[in-house]
Amino acid sequence: MWGGRFAGGPAAIMQRINASIDFDRRLYAQDIRGSQAHCRMLVRQGILTEADGAAIVQGLDRVRQEIESGDFPFRHELEDIHMNVEARLAELIGEAAGRLHTARSRNDQVATDFRLWVRDAVDGMEGALKGLQAALIARAEDHAATVMPGFTHLQAAQPVTFGHHLLAYVEMVGRDRGRLADARARLNECPLGSAALAGTPFPIDRHFTAAELGFDRPMNNSLDGVSDRDFALEFMAAAAICAVHLSRLAEELVIWTSAQFRFVTLSDAFTTGSSIMPQKRNPDAAELIRAKTGRVIGDLNALLIVMKGLPLAYSKDMQDDKEPVFEVADTMELAIAAMTGMIGDMTVNTDTLRAAAGAGYTTATDIADWCVRTLKMPFRRAHHVAGSLVKLAEQSGRDLADLGLAEMQGVEPGITEDARAVLAVEHSVASRTSFGGTAPARVREQAAAARSRWL
Ligand code: ARG
Repeated sequence: MWGGRFAGGPAAIMQRINASIDFDRRLYAQDIRGSQAHCRMLVRQGILTEADGAAIVQGLDRVRQEIESGDFPFRHELEDIHMNVEARLAELIGEAAGRLHTARSRNDQVATDFRLWVRDAVDGMEGALKGLQAALIARAEDHAATVMPGFTHLQAAQPVTFGHHLLAYVEMVGRDRGRLADARARLNECPLGSAALAGTPFPIDRHFTAAELGFDRPMNNSLDGVSDRDFALEFMAAAAICAVHLSRLAEELVIWTSAQFRFVTLSDAFTTGSSIMPQKRNPDAAELIRAKTGRVIGDLNALLIVMKGLPLAYSKDMQDDKEPVFEVADTMELAIAAMTGMIGDMTVNTDTLRAAAGAGYTTATDIADWCVRTLKMPFRRAHHVAGSLVKLAEQSGRDLADLGLAEMQGVEPGITEDARAVLAVEHSVASRTSFGGTAPARVREQAAAARSRWL
């Protein structure tokens, strides 16, 4: 491609370090689409003849077919997808192929291809997350009134409902979708026509190519056009935060499926057995989702570090932007699908959850609240009263509900039989009717709101 100036070929090792075709072939469809848009624009602007333009567009269609049918002869010595496609085009249509690169550079070409690819990845991930939300909302609706222990510090804290817990993840995933939508809006500007870095003397129409490729507008600055990779970083940053959410849920599944908890049981479809221990049902998919978060965060870091030292405009370092992004897209696709499958399939062990909901004195706050409401006690004093009751129960290895009225009155004479009713976990959750609270009525409202907002 640069035979005019170069006599000798590259060293074998140079070819290996330089070639990106093994991974950037994934951009073939975007590359061809971008080239066809560029070509149509050149014809409209009178820069290319109709005949050459038609030959190029048709030739590129054939190249696409060859790639899709697996017949395309990818060649390492041609470095990347752009030169592989163009070289094949020349074989197919002859000299006219050489006119396609008028008023363009691989710098704006790759920036355009990659934006198109990431835009599709954003849309794909957004759709997958919608599916995950659908699974979470459906299970939340089933379990709007299923009580379970809520935790802080992984210590039993107060009873909540299982539906409420799942809806927390619907909120997180909603923010993930919001971040993807924000990233998409900023991504959707077209670098094509920035040329190598400075623009071009040819009378191109960047607004036309931008519109052809579904972009909102051309990028304003040609230097920025070829050197910006914020779109890739933003996609990976949104993915990394999402991966952290998936990992937290995965961690909960690992805990919940353990013999000590048994809150949920995963289906055969999403667990493995042990080759030695017949009783085992391991939550491998959840563990792997938790693990893969490391890659996603690592990939974001990798590109941040690649970009941090680069002067304007293009540097070859930027060729290393693709593998991290591809890995993030592939990893997230798998992780979201596996999580959606597990959530849809899991059996929720409502009896175990109910028994656990009351263990660990989780309704102690309810007694304190009763003292505040009924005895008009300051909350700090009420907290002390409830604490003394817990101590009393704990010393004799009993639950709060097992304390006799007289014993309770020994701690606080104002306590009546009424106070004992608030110790039931169902009462506890039903009473938490504040906006966003865990009362089943609230959870049903929130599930309905989430359904209409997100699905
Ligand atoms: N394969 C290159 C990349 O992905 C294409 C751009 C090459 N540009 C250049 N000036 N050598 O970044």
